[in-house]
Amino acid sequence: MRAIPALALGALVLPLSALAADPHSYAQPNEVRVTHLDLDLAIDFPHKALDGTATLSLDWKDPNAPALVLDTRDLKIAKVEGLDTAGRASALKFALAPRDKELGSKLTIQAPRHPAKVRIVYATSPQASGLQWLTPAQTADKKLPFMFSQSESIHARSWVPLQDSPAIRFTYTAHVTAPKDVRVVMSAINDAKHPLDGDFRFDQPHPIPSYLLAIGAGDIAVEETGPRSAVYAEPSVVGKAAHEFEDTEKLIEATEQLYGPYAWGRYDILVLPPSFPYGGMENPNMTFATPTVLVGDKSLVSLVSHELAHSWSGNLVTAASWRDIWLNEGFTTYVQGRITEAVYGKALADEEALLSARALQKSIGDMPANSQKLAPDPRGVGADDSLSDVAYDKGSWFLRTLEQRFGRGTFDEWLKAYFHRHAFTSITTEQMLADMKANLFDTHPGKMSWDEAKAWVYQPGIPREAPLPTSLRFQTIDKERADFLAGTLDANELDAKGWNTQEWMYFLDRLPDAPPLSKMKQLDAAWHLTGTPNAEIGMRWYSHAIAAGDKNVWEDAREHMTRIGRMYLTLPVYKAFAATPEGLAYAEAAYAKAKDGYHPMTQGAIESILRKARQGKK
Ligand code: BES
Ligand code: ZN
Repeated sequence: MRAIPALALGALVLPLSALAADPHSYAQPNEVRVTHLDLDLAIDFPHKALDGTATLSLDWKDPNAPALVLDTRDLKIAKVEGLDTAGRASALKFALAPRDKELGSKLTIQAPRHPAKVRIVYATSPQASGLQWLTPAQTADKKLPFMFSQSESIHARSWVPLQDSPAIRFTYTAHVTAPKDVRVVMSAINDAKHPLDGDFRFDQPHPIPSYLLAIGAGDIAVEETGPRSAVYAEPSVVGKAAHEFEDTEKLIEATEQLYGPYAWGRYDILVLPPSFPYGGMENPNMTFATPTVLVGDKSLVSLVSHELAHSWSGNLVTAASWRDIWLNEGFTTYVQGRITEAVYGKALADEEALLSARALQKSIGDMPANSQKLAPDPRGVGADDSLSDVAYDKGSWFLRTLEQRFGRGTFDEWLKAYFHRHAFTSITTEQMLADMKANLFDTHPGKMSWDEAKAWVYQPGIPREAPLPTSLRFQTIDKERADFLAGTLDANELDAKGWNTQEWMYFLDRLPDAPPLSKMKQLDAAWHLTGTPNAEIGMRWYSHAIAAGDKNVWEDAREHMTRIGRMYLTLPVYKAFAATPEGLAYAEAAYAKAKDGYHPMTQGAIESILRKARQGKK
């Protein structure tokens, strides 16, 4: 974790500009802002590199600013030129600072004459933290190589030199070349009929923050799912994906009904290889998604509701810094629930809200107090460290509480207007709160005290009066689990035939951390959980079975974590193995074999788990 020099953040003597500074970027937006990015890149699969130019249009704010300061990580910078308004180029001096482990290398470009544009000739490193490169053998169809980006939180700087802060928005255009037969997609409008001639152009006309820059390329087929939606995936996956995501248009319409028109035009989904490190990423116009949600029964489609919801909460109204990430993820998790309720019914929405609330209640007590706050003190907190259940589940819980207190009609009206008022801007927690106070609390007095709202945002823990939904089906499962553990109900007497994915997740989540081995064996004999094709169930099952000492599951657990690079599904299984010396040795051997298939982020996270276990830490 990076130690940030102690700023007296609370002190009122600080100028606003200092308060607004993003501790995870070297950019100096009060001096100059990037307003447009034009990329001209070649995808070089043999060298695992993007190679070309980034041309930044600049809005100089401070007449005395001597330089343009950019964020980079592991980029090779060949040349920098300034372009005047007539397009005439002249070389500019630049300096690349030594690499900071967390932030990368500050690029300082001397530009005292304030050129209208700056062009940087550069190439990425094969180890770029925001890119993964797969050989044909590492893809499903084995024909062509594949590559994709994951820019959030601060990885855009590993493939484009820019002001890598969510407070700064710019439009972009791109020209990208690739080998013939490869399809290139970006976080912009994509044309499903584009010839696979190795020459692609993109235009994102809406101003976006840098973490929403995205690119993917490979053997990618397209299948329509609606009038303004399609899925993109490897040919052997695209049919299954189109079936799983066939409700996309319904989801878009339900969200528009609640919060106003979808602002971005098309909504497409790219299904990535299983090494994609996240479940989904809300790249504008082109959500990136893990294939682990393709379970055949649409039970994990909440992922689409979630990423689609970001088209309002996150992409339209954006958290200005990583400390404010709950404005993206908490609001989105709330909206996700509303979409699920509208399209699939209240029972499923309540189950998902309960699952996450119960998980948060279990985990929050073990976190440091600062991490339990929606808006933590950012000092010494890494960009990705604010990303925990707190941002998602405490954030959405707060909004469900507001909905209950103010009434659905009033709350919906405020939220819709809030998205509208701040569309295409980046705001802080305090700006959101000012809006909420003026347009919800002050206009509807007597529903909730402002101190209560502030406690949700600035205090650790979960307020005692936080309302929970009820689910009759979950209540039955709690009873069955208790009877099973007490020995009054056999595993095969569990009424689990009709359990959906969420109900299995709930049953497994609330088993004891290390259940009795005999119980695990009975469960597996009755319900064949080992080898399940559903990785949400698999992750929970293997973690518990390994903790119970059931070595029969080891081989299938290894297969699960070798195949899946989505950190949320694979890290808990590594952690379960790492809890005993024998398990740790097994996990280390499994990792050595699987490593090449993992994204750099997943590699880093697994190595940290194994290192801590070896050193005897938790
Ligand atoms: N924007 C996030 C993913 C993210 C957040 C990546 C912060 C890097 C840093 C995305 O919208 C997300 O929340 N994905 C979830 C989906 C789930 C909640 C349905 C995931 O990846 O698990
Ligand atoms: Zn999200």
